[in-house]
Amino acid sequence: MFTIVTGAQFGDEGKGKIIDLLCEEYDAVARFQGGDNAGHTVVVNGEKFKLHLIPSGAIRKKRLLIGPGVVVNPLSLKREMEELKKRGFELKNKDLGIDPRAGVIMPYHILLDELCDRKSGIGTTHRGIGFAYQDKIGREEIQMIDLTDEESFWKKIEKITPLKEALVERLGGDKRLVRDEKRLKEYLEIGKNVKDYLTDVSAEVNERLERGEGVLAEGAQGTFLDVIHGTHKYVTSSSTISSSACVNLGVSPKKVDRIVGVVKAYITRVGSGPFPTEISSELGEKIRKKGGEFGTTTGRPRRCGWYDAVLMRKAVRLNGYTDIAVTKLDVLGGLEKIKICVAYELDGRELEYPPERTEDLFRCIPVYEELEGWKEDIRNVREISQLPKNAKRYLERIEELAGVPISIVSVGEERDQTILLK
Ligand code: IMP
Repeated sequence: MFTIVTGAQFGDEGKGKIIDLLCEEYDAVARFQGGDNAGHTVVVNGEKFKLHLIPSGAIRKKRLLIGPGVVVNPLSLKREMEELKKRGFELKNKDLGIDPRAGVIMPYHILLDELCDRKSGIGTTHRGIGFAYQDKIGREEIQMIDLTDEESFWKKIEKITPLKEALVERLGGDKRLVRDEKRLKEYLEIGKNVKDYLTDVSAEVNERLERGEGVLAEGAQGTFLDVIHGTHKYVTSSSTISSSACVNLGVSPKKVDRIVGVVKAYITRVGSGPFPTEISSELGEKIRKKGGEFGTTTGRPRRCGWYDAVLMRKAVRLNGYTDIAVTKLDVLGGLEKIKICVAYELDGRELEYPPERTEDLFRCIPVYEELEGWKEDIRNVREISQLPKNAKRYLERIEELAGVPISIVSVGEERDQTILLK
């Protein structure tokens, strides 16, 4: 069984909880793109785990895999492994496998990200993601395997860094930081430990599937942050949609059994970029507070908005969702009215599908349908039949507009605060 889970919005949809929930029935969980820009939160018995790089199956003690399409900051990897160990989840090499070809986020990638983001206004997470992927595409990547061979590592550094130094200098940064020996030696030190974890993730995933095992592919960020199909330039630097799991893990599309889209009952965005249904009034602030909408990675407040069925239409198409998981429904409780954006208005025309150009999306005015809210606290509801009538109606409308069945509804951050529909 090969299942892919992706975010259907701008990230932060609650994928961590859904993956933790789903992966019980799988043997392995594989991250296929992104890096430690992601922040996946898993809550078990009141204990919160914030994962950035390690797949969310960690708390279920599943086999965890970091694929070759991921970019890894070794310091984050070390920190996260130490943190998990302290909390009783020591990851040995039978628990975690890292592909030798996964890219390394180098100190100069982070430096360049910080320097450039000031000018570009994208509002990146400053984790060096874009610059690490530039080097993958530009074929100047240091890969995880390079951290295990000092001689070849320093040779590569010699070759690669003069251009980086020139660039940093040009951008007004301190070029001495590019070849920060102390930091690079730290990387090599981590490399010594990482050696035992290196494994061909693509081969392992395929072998597991051939044996009839279950593998869950864990997406990071969300559909509209996809580097190709998202709201360019306000996107991340990897492909975040379901087919990216096949490309990045080297698994044939023929093998895919299920594709789960995770979508919040409203929508949030962190960083800059078009956001048609953003609520700029006090209500946005109220939702932010109630939903705890602050970045897991950067702590930045997330922008909050009404559920956008127009974007969802595109997300369903791009990902080919077989079913969707709706999260944070409880956050909308207590509102008199709840809005759903069913179309956009642009230059006097009504659009049911998002326009191609980001500039146009900035100008779209949402056309709303208004539904009655519910007053009840639904955090203890475990059966769909126990939900207030208006909450059920809201879910039905989401389902109708998406044209895909809802399989999971999350009404709180704990594992058991969940309604399963199939
Ligand atoms: P980068 O991925 O750090 O380059 O950031 C590019 C854009 O993606 C910025 O708008 C970030 O806020 C956003 N982004 C990156 N990772 C996440 C995430 O895990 N959740 C939400 N937004 C993210």
